[in-house]
Amino acid sequence: MIAKAAKSKTLSTVRRNGAGRDYDVADMNLAAQGRRRIEWADEQMPVLRRLRERFIKDQPLKGHRLGACLHITTETANLLRTLKAGGAEVLCCASNPLSTQDDVAAALIKEYDIPTYAIRAEDRDSYYSHLRAVLDRHPTVTMDDGADLVSLLHTDYKGQADELSASMEETTTGVIRLRAMERDGALRIPVVAVNDAQTKFLFDNRYGTGQSTLDAIIRATGVLVAGSVFVVGGYGWCGRGVATRARGLGANVIVTEVNPIRALEAALDGFQVKTMAEAAKTGDIFVTVTGDKSVLTAAHFQAMKSGAIICNSGHFDVEIDLPALKKLSKSVEQYPEREVESYQLKNGRQIFLLGQGRLVNLACAEGHPAQVMDMSFATQAAAARWVTSGKRLSVQVHNVPQAIEDEVAAHKLAAMGIKIDSLSSDQKKYLHSWESGT
Ligand code: ADE
Repeated sequence: MIAKAAKSKTLSTVRRNGAGRDYDVADMNLAAQGRRRIEWADEQMPVLRRLRERFIKDQPLKGHRLGACLHITTETANLLRTLKAGGAEVLCCASNPLSTQDDVAAALIKEYDIPTYAIRAEDRDSYYSHLRAVLDRHPTVTMDDGADLVSLLHTDYKGQADELSASMEETTTGVIRLRAMERDGALRIPVVAVNDAQTKFLFDNRYGTGQSTLDAIIRATGVLVAGSVFVVGGYGWCGRGVATRARGLGANVIVTEVNPIRALEAALDGFQVKTMAEAAKTGDIFVTVTGDKSVLTAAHFQAMKSGAIICNSGHFDVEIDLPALKKLSKSVEQYPEREVESYQLKNGRQIFLLGQGRLVNLACAEGHPAQVMDMSFATQAAAARWVTSGKRLSVQVHNVPQAIEDEVAAHKLAAMGIKIDSLSSDQKKYLHSWESGT
């Protein structure tokens, strides 16, 4: 029989603190530690800090209630502080049951007076009760990482759609869900695809996921990456980042893909490209990062070497077929302090699963570094300023305006002390002309 998963810490009822505000977090005693770590991260987020200073003066979000459903990390705390500094009333919940940093959640309430509903390792009921707690407060702007809040708004909270100026979406998977809603005529609010801004996906998805995924695998297992056979399922921006960083640590990287262009790109980037069925036989470490379900299935588990490490860095825990893994196993041992489970297969082999198949970089490490979240969250904050600055946007999926991307990139370069050239008027003219040739 499969042993029970590590017990979830779950408080399904919402408590009230002394100030009469609602919240639900694991341990308020962690607040001071949370504040120290939030301030540390803030030092690495100069673009967001600069925006915060402007927000304090301009108060662009005054009169808005902003409900954020994001990973509760030190970087997110700095985004929420910025939105609050801009005049918004801010409240938040977790966007994944296993990504919450409990010290940050406590600090948000105690140190920054931001109502927070998030407990690491909460169960599904608690997770959804927290989303409901945010929607019950009738936000006028929302932020999502995976579109769970917007999905709930379109089902159980339909009547509130007109109250929303817009919602911002942080991740690829969420944008895919929102575009599907738009295509099916189901979308009822304006949304902004923050993920699709270059200042987000080129850096956060690639360098953030690349580093934090390797960080998580190493923290959880202490494995030597050099010389290992490292299989990356998916060669989108996140997959590129993971494959590149694994190679940088000396792994022999195999990429699997379903898209011929991406497969070719991976091959020309110097990676081996194989089917997952082939890769399963030789891989030591497997990372799924496709955004789709059933990337690692029963046939793959059966083919894997004993001791194979498997994990997922895609948004939802659907990429590894966990029910199939459980069915193939006679027992499972827990290493809860490391978020590792060892599945003892009936074929006599064992497979190590990290982070319960959830986003490994947040389950087994602390997510992307602050330097990269600086750009993502400065883009988020500037997008929030944009959606509240005039009349309501049309109901569709909007891209982040180029001016915001340019502003964020310019400030990041300045903060990094990097100067770049600019075009002369002659060069500009040349680029706009067609007459001159050979
Ligand atoms: N997504 C990935 N890493 C993150 C982080 N550090 N904070 C918030 N969201 C994230």
